[in-house]
Amino acid sequence: MNILLTGGAGYIGSHIAVALTDAGHRISIVDNFVNSVPEAIVRVEKITGKNIVLHKTDVTDREDLTRILHDEKPDCVIHCAGLKSVGESVKKPLKYYRNNINTTLSLLESMKETGIERLVFSSSATVYGEDNIPPFTETMPKGRCANPYGWTKWMQEQIIEDVVKQLKISTVILRYFNPTGAHKSGLIGEEPNGLPNNLMPYILQVADGRREHLTVFGDDYNTPDGTCRRDYIHVMDLAEAHLKAAEYVEKNKGLDVFNIGRGIPCSVLELVKAFEEASEQTIKYEIGSRRDGDVQDIWADTSKAEEVLGWQVHRGINEMCQDAWNWQKKNPAGYAK
Ligand code: UFG
Repeated sequence: MNILLTGGAGYIGSHIAVALTDAGHRISIVDNFVNSVPEAIVRVEKITGKNIVLHKTDVTDREDLTRILHDEKPDCVIHCAGLKSVGESVKKPLKYYRNNINTTLSLLESMKETGIERLVFSSSATVYGEDNIPPFTETMPKGRCANPYGWTKWMQEQIIEDVVKQLKISTVILRYFNPTGAHKSGLIGEEPNGLPNNLMPYILQVADGRREHLTVFGDDYNTPDGTCRRDYIHVMDLAEAHLKAAEYVEKNKGLDVFNIGRGIPCSVLELVKAFEEASEQTIKYEIGSRRDGDVQDIWADTSKAEEVLGWQVHRGINEMCQDAWNWQKKNPAGYAK
């Protein structure tokens, strides 16, 4: 297939680019590099040995995007472009609503204009209401999101649902749980902007000496060790889910939604321990107070993705930790030379 990937230079997008290219698909990337760097695409080319077509454009620039879709004529669009920092979204809600909603409106309008008929959308487990009890199934109540970022994902899902029905665009929505790790090569990985918000990037910076210690946000939850549990998934397993989704929309009409996680809970302290074992580093940590908006337990029921998409997870927590540490060691300054 000829697949156009928005946000393809980002952490998740670059891994999807590798998975699709390795599977023999031809891809083109649209990215504005607001939270990514062109070097990531150079590295994808190095891993895959293939040239990647790059359009440096903002997805919200509808005219330009329409021109690109018209020229590329993709069989399918995978839409990953968007702002993703939960904390920043609370401080700058307008920026998040304007950008994230507009990327999807612009893309759908351009797809309508150019007659592109297949879409895969990157959504998030954050769309599930806070009151659900894990494992989360796709049909559980949604909305009541904890922050503006979450609302933008949920609103984009709503917009997509209404529009693709009417335009008859075959669509898969993937709800990501907690992607982590990096490609085996250590050439691509996650590059947080400033102080990391997420657990694994923070652990990595403690491991390489940049931060003195990790603060564990609360150990008084009702879990076996008192810390919150999440569903960490290797970013290459997540990337492979996009490959399956693209192949699925090629053959199936309508709209379908899938959880993409491992379906196995892992606590903060369990991840710290697993990282210490995988990296042979000691992670100094202190117990702090709970973080606002944190939910105690989040993990997926992944049976639908396994049964319908024929997708399976191949990598465990140990591999996530090893690959994340390999990326960090090889790229202490991220993509900067
Ligand atoms: N945590 C710490 N210390 C840190 C960072 C995180 O103890 O320095 C804890 C958090 O309290 C939480 C767990 O580690 O219990 C995971 O936190 P992350 O910030 O890594 O991930 P979240 O589950 O909070 O959020 C992630 C994505 C969001 C997405 C959400 C969906 O970052 O974009 O999953 O469930 F919306």
